[in-house]
Amino acid sequence: MGSLGMLSRRTLGTDMPVMTQIRKLMAELTNPMSLAQGVVHWQPPQKALDKVKEIVWDPTTSSYGPDEGIPELREALQKKLREENKLFKSHVMVTAGANQAFVNLVLTLCDHGDSVVMFEPYYFNAYMAFQMTGVTNIIVGPGHPETLYPDADWLERTLSESKPTPKVVTVVNPGNPSGTYVPEPLLKRISEICKDAGCWLIVDNTYEYFMYDGLKHSCVEGDHIVNLFSFSKTYGMMGWRLGYIAYSERLEGFATELVKIQDNIPICAAIISQRLALYALEEGAGWVVERVKGLVKNREIVKEALEPLGKENVKGGEGAIYLWAKLPEEHRDDFRVVRWLAHRHGVVVIPGCASGSPGHVRVSFGGLQEEEMRAAAERLRKGLEELVHRGMVE
Ligand SMILES: Cc1ncc(COP(=O)(O)O)c(C=O)c1O
Repeated sequence: MGSLGMLSRRTLGTDMPVMTQIRKLMAELTNPMSLAQGVVHWQPPQKALDKVKEIVWDPTTSSYGPDEGIPELREALQKKLREENKLFKSHVMVTAGANQAFVNLVLTLCDHGDSVVMFEPYYFNAYMAFQMTGVTNIIVGPGHPETLYPDADWLERTLSESKPTPKVVTVVNPGNPSGTYVPEPLLKRISEICKDAGCWLIVDNTYEYFMYDGLKHSCVEGDHIVNLFSFSKTYGMMGWRLGYIAYSERLEGFATELVKIQDNIPICAAIISQRLALYALEEGAGWVVERVKGLVKNREIVKEALEPLGKENVKGGEGAIYLWAKLPEEHRDDFRVVRWLAHRHGVVVIPGCASGSPGHVRVSFGGLQEEEMRAAAERLRKGLEELVHRGMVE
């Protein structure tokens, strides 16, 4: 029964998760330093964790809750959406993280055979969510060669020329793996293009507070738009698995269908995680922004480490926790470079092929505190210098 012929073609046709491959690679090493996984180095707010300790014996913590999320949290999120994101007409569904939210949406919005649009370099888990649900016609659009911003002219042409019209367009703002953001006028234009074409726009705002150099993150709202958010990086809650979907309050049918999916996968996000999220919101955006400020130094350290590749080959990092770097032409096999860096230099990054852009690497600057970041960056710099001057010597 274990033969591949007995397994679903949808999952067999789905990419291998890059992070599981990276974890396997790390297990082969002694003392690796990771600039790979998209994580932050902080834990949730102390006060919030203390409050959670008090509710473990509360019977409601161990019971199921409403599919959409506990009312107190949904209310707090709606307030946050109004005040911070200028989303005034949005309803909320709480999910077990933004990845689960995305799968919910693909199952709610797409049928087998539909086409969808993403931009290169894309977020690998979103790509896999389409693949594993049978949405295999994934049209990948270009980013601007310099800024990596999604190419809106291409989108306009593609949506008008592709028949039937693609069902969903998705963007990540600011981006994973690029670390670039989508400026407000461009986001509005993408939204208008989708609206005119009659297709959904899903915007993943997982890194909403991770903006640097005075740039501002913004959201768009409309009956064709769904916004995703996550507590993972913002409040250091990766393992608590908490995210949410914001959708137009006018979409009655949409909510009904969305609940079907939710009720069959998590039923509800873990109650204790929802409580922690509620307490974390009491600390508020300021708590997150303070920690994000501390990442500016990390970004500088990693940027310096990438210099051997040439400044012109290092992009992104305006937002999120990533820099995106192009490898020398003769080293387009990025996974080979990643393995070599790991084994010879003890530092791990993510290969661009996982995001549809071979010949690149994604470097995360969120997961280590400054001192450790310096040590990891030193390994990276040495490795890249060797790569550029001597190649992948053993
Ligand atoms: C763009 C983006 N969306 C979603 C996720 C997953 O978030 P969550 O932990 O809330 O599922 C990540 C995590 O790296 C991400 O980078």
